[in-house]
This record gives sequence, structure tokens and C-alpha cells, in this order.
Amino acid sequence: MKTEIAKIETTVNTEALDINRNIIKKAAKYLRKNELVAIPTETVYGLGASGLSEEACKKIFEVKGRPADNPLILHISELEELYDLVKEVPIEAEKMLEELWPGPLTIVLRKSEKIPNIVTAGGNTVAIRMPSHKVAREIIKEVGLPIAAPSANLSGRPSPTTAKDVMEDLNGKINLIVDGGQSSIGIESTVLDLTSKPYTILRPGFFDKVDLENYLKEVEYDNALLEEGVIPRSPGQKYKHYAPKASMEVIIGNNKQIKEFIVIYIKSTIKNTAYILFEENKNLVPKDGIFLTLGSKEKLNEMAYNLFKNLRLADKLKVEHIICEGTLEKGIGIGIMNRLKKSSSGTVRIL
Ligand code: TXA
Ligand code: MG
Repeated sequence: MKTEIAKIETTVNTEALDINRNIIKKAAKYLRKNELVAIPTETVYGLGASGLSEEACKKIFEVKGRPADNPLILHISELEELYDLVKEVPIEAEKMLEELWPGPLTIVLRKSEKIPNIVTAGGNTVAIRMPSHKVAREIIKEVGLPIAAPSANLSGRPSPTTAKDVMEDLNGKINLIVDGGQSSIGIESTVLDLTSKPYTILRPGFFDKVDLENYLKEVEYDNALLEEGVIPRSPGQKYKHYAPKASMEVIIGNNKQIKEFIVIYIKSTIKNTAYILFEENKNLVPKDGIFLTLGSKEKLNEMAYNLFKNLRLADKLKVEHIICEGTLEKGIGIGIMNRLKKSSSGTVRIL
């Protein structure tokens, strides 16, 4: 199979819009024929399939090498599409959905009869999200069906934030990648279980507990996110994930501590190393080391935006080891550290 990348032009002129319309139609055509299409979203790229087709969703699991017990997220383009897919929506969640959707929030509710078992991995709950990326929503609208879409990476690899990243993992395995530019957020959506109280954050992301508490009285983090050894309620959280090929350690400290750490590190190793650090610490990288920026320490959104891209880049540069700065677990920092702990298999040093 030949994989095509079709770039959506964002400059607004009539001709560009026509080209875009053709790409959106093409993507929708594949999806209606139960073929897979990679689509851009504001969090990460998704590997889309018709969400009401067992046959199409089966292909997602095959192409990604995804464990069969890990359920998929259904993506919709308008709030009213939600009500057909679930048994009921808690009243207090409605204001939250009106304000935070479209956006990087996925909710888990009891599923309606419409949804094939393969989507929910046999369970009676379903995860739903309305992405804010215009291209994703246009494609969903054009298909007229919910679109199942996990991150468009091979299972276990860092999530893709560009069409090129998707190509790296899925070249020859799908027909079409729609290129809508780099994902603006860079880490996957917050997953919130609304099936029982207290409502539970199963996967941290752009929105944290404080954001959700503006709408819901009782919100907790899944215990598995807080303590080691607890089995997560979201199947995807139990797998080693987001992992680059190189070994990796995460360090957290001030400029002086990072400087001292690197001095000792280079004395004790000859490994070809990528240093994924905040821009402020660029000058701490040894001359023969590779520096990849996390953006400014003051702006954690930049860290999320750069993270997966750099983990993939480090692999392409064939480094043996990655030293990556971590951050405080606050706001999106909670989601970032969740990913970093998994990428490094828990090798996090507080200096
Ligand atoms: O930002 C995102 O959410 C991206 C984009 C493409 O939308 N998608 C994404 O999908 O990250 P995926 O499949 O890589 O991660 C979905 C997560 C997994 O951890 C999965 O276990 C969990 O959501 N999940 C899905 N359905 C669930 C359910 N019914 N109950 C609990 N967790 C569920
Ligand atoms: Mg994923």
C-alpha cells in the first residue's frame, strides 16, 4: 500500500479552500469505505476509522499492534452527537462540555447499543471527545459518523504530533495521512470518567483537576496516577508507553543542580547523548552533546508542544541515551510528567 500525505493549506484563499475540500472529501471517502486515515488533532495525530464499524476498528488494532483490551476514543463534531452514543450524561457535566468542548477533554460514559464491542474492548463504557482542530471536525462532519481514533503511532511509541511522525510509524500501512500542521498542544487529551462519583481523571492532559472542578464538585485522580503498584482503571495507562528507542532518564532541578549533574554524567559515560532541556539551560550541554529544546521553562505549554517531537528526533539521531528535564506536577505539568515517567520507565531523579 502506498501512503499519501495530503497537506491542508491554511492560507485562506478560495483556491486553497477548494484543495482542502477535496482532501477532506477524499479522507471521508476512505473512512466510509472502512479504511484508515490519519487525521490531525490539537492534541496529537489520530489514526481514524469509522467508529461504528467493527471491520474498520479491527484494522486500527492490527495496524498499531494495539493490545485488544485497550478501548478506543470516539470523536464527534457536534455536542448533540454525544447523546446517541451514551446512556446518559450527568447534568452537571453539561456546562463543562459546552465550555471545554471542542477541546482536549475525553469523557467516559456508559455506552449505548449502537457502539460495537471492539471500540470499548468489550466493556460497557465508551470514551468520547470532540476535537477542536478544524480539519478533524470537518472530516468527521463530512463522514457523518463518529470516528474512532487512537494516537496514530505504533503501539508503545511516542504519539505523533506531525504528519511526518505518522509517516515514520505507518508508512505503507494506511492509504492517507491528512497533514494539518503540528498539533498545537502536543500531549493527548485528559480522560475523565463520568460513570461514577467521585468523577475520576484516568489520564492527565491539558486540563487538570482544578480546571474540571470549575464545573464538577467531586473530581479525583485515579489512584494509579498517584501511587505505584495500583492497577489503572484506564487500560491504556498500564502499558509502557511513549517510549523512545534510546534509554532515558528524567532530571528535575535548578540550573546549578542540572549543571552539576551533567558534569558528573559526562565524566562517567561515553554514550552518545541527547539533552532535552529548557532553552534557559542550553549552555549546559557539552560541545559534543545534542541539544533539543523544551522551550522556555516559564511556559509549560511549550514543553508539551516540544516533548514527543524531541523524543522522536532523538531516535532519528540514533542517540543511545536521553537526558530530559522534568517539571513540577502542576497544571499541564501533571500530564507531562505522566508521559515522562512512562517514557523513562520511571527513571526520574529529583536533584
Ligand atoms: O488526545 C487524544 O485523546 C488522542 C487524539 C487522537 O484524540 N487520542 C488518544 O487515543 O490518545 P489513545 O487510544 O492513544 O488513548 C486513549 C486512552 C487510552 O489510555 C485508553 O485506555 C483510554 O483512553 N480509554 C478509552 N476508552 C476507555 C474507556 N471506556 N474506559 C477507560 N479508559 C478508556
Ligand atoms: Mg496512544
